[in-house]
Amino acid sequence: MERTPTDIKSPVSFKPIDQEDIMFFVSILGKEAVLTDQESRQSYGSDETEDLNLPPEVVLIPRTTEQVSEIMGYCHEHLIAVTPIGALTGLSGGALSIMGGVGLSMRRFNRIIEIDEANLQATVEPGVITQVFQEAVLEKGLFYPPDPASRGSCTIGGNLAESSGGPKAVKYGVTRDYIINLEVVLADGTKMWTGANVLKNATGYDLTRLIVGSEGTLAVITKAVFRLIPRMKFDLLMLVPFQDAKKACEAVSATFRAGITPSSMEFMERDALLWVNEFIGGDVAIPDEIQAHLLIEVDGNYEETLFKDCEIIAEVMEAHGSGEILFASSASEKDKLWLMRRKVAEAVKANSIYKEEDTVVPRFKLPELLDGVKRIGAAYGFKSVCYGHAGDGNLHVNIIKGQMSDEDWNNKLTQGIRELFRLVVDLGGTISGEHGIGLVQKDYMDIAFKENELELMRSIKRVFDTKGILNPMKIF
Ligand code: LAC
Ligand code: ZN
Repeated sequence: MERTPTDIKSPVSFKPIDQEDIMFFVSILGKEAVLTDQESRQSYGSDETEDLNLPPEVVLIPRTTEQVSEIMGYCHEHLIAVTPIGALTGLSGGALSIMGGVGLSMRRFNRIIEIDEANLQATVEPGVITQVFQEAVLEKGLFYPPDPASRGSCTIGGNLAESSGGPKAVKYGVTRDYIINLEVVLADGTKMWTGANVLKNATGYDLTRLIVGSEGTLAVITKAVFRLIPRMKFDLLMLVPFQDAKKACEAVSATFRAGITPSSMEFMERDALLWVNEFIGGDVAIPDEIQAHLLIEVDGNYEETLFKDCEIIAEVMEAHGSGEILFASSASEKDKLWLMRRKVAEAVKANSIYKEEDTVVPRFKLPELLDGVKRIGAAYGFKSVCYGHAGDGNLHVNIIKGQMSDEDWNNKLTQGIRELFRLVVDLGGTISGEHGIGLVQKDYMDIAFKENELELMRSIKRVFDTKGILNPMKIF
């Protein structure tokens, strides 16, 4: 679906890009870093969110903070919309240029500036691919835990924008839990560092953690300083089948109550695993009666302790009616199981038109959430495939178009999603755990927050970005 900026009602009348603007951008960046051709613009207009295409009028690919500052200063003066763009792996349309204007690609900010082994910190640019960063610190015996499913292609800047999580978040936390300092460019071109390279900081408001998760609406991130932790020496991985998906969800909170904190605790409904099996040619046997799996990892420095942890986990699983547990017996078997888990989103996308919801509830409420998803689906006539970070209570609900008519898909579904989100909030949860609000969830923000609470957030946005040029029409 392609929309043009003129279709969309914005409170700001942005100036369309003209030849003079292009000449200015070329004078700052050089010709090769200013893309105006249709094909390039199109390619920067889609991410992994459904089937949207919202291209910027021009793509700019700066290399230095000074260039970003000059671009922002100019766009601020001329009222040009600017949308920061990472690797375009987002799932809420946060990096799509809904108002046209400048698409600010950060892909040339791709240096790991320093891995400070003495302090267990690293300074990186936002265009570094997450897995590249993880591997670089691993080589030094260190660990950067946030690992979204797309870690092989997503970048640190996008992870910061959404406060990405991934399977390790259950034990180690999300992107926001590792950031200690940011170099940013504000909407008017001002450069600043938001914090200090220290592990404690009680000096004024915590702008660093406010900017993380702000989806590119408050500032452009040009450098990030993370704290790191030592890498664990061992991990064990098991795949646990269940005939009853709800029982699998019940086993999740029971595991923590039994005194174990797994380093990952993932849930996959039957179809998620079936589809990914087909998608990547996997060979995991899924007997007819199996409705769901938990993929559970424990890690630590002492293998004996991990075996003991696994015994306790196995007891909990069996008490919840699990089938025979598969222990990954080699590194390649672990890799295979993790690949399957990471590919679920792509497998679903390949299977049908779908909408992905990123619900999160207190862990113990997960069985009620799963029940509610199926009940609401039955009432509104949609099928769903659920999977996700069960240990966090974070369930990715994929609503499948399947045989639904276009009419129902486009009109009735919104009501179903609203009902689902109301349930999530009633259960004490919220409407996104790690994918963000961006463009596609903003119409549901009234379910998560009251109007005066939203207004407080909007006023923070106005303080950072007086003219509203930075990633306009997102979140609210
Ligand atoms: C995952 C992404 C979709 O968990 O968040 O696979
Ligand atoms: Zn996820």
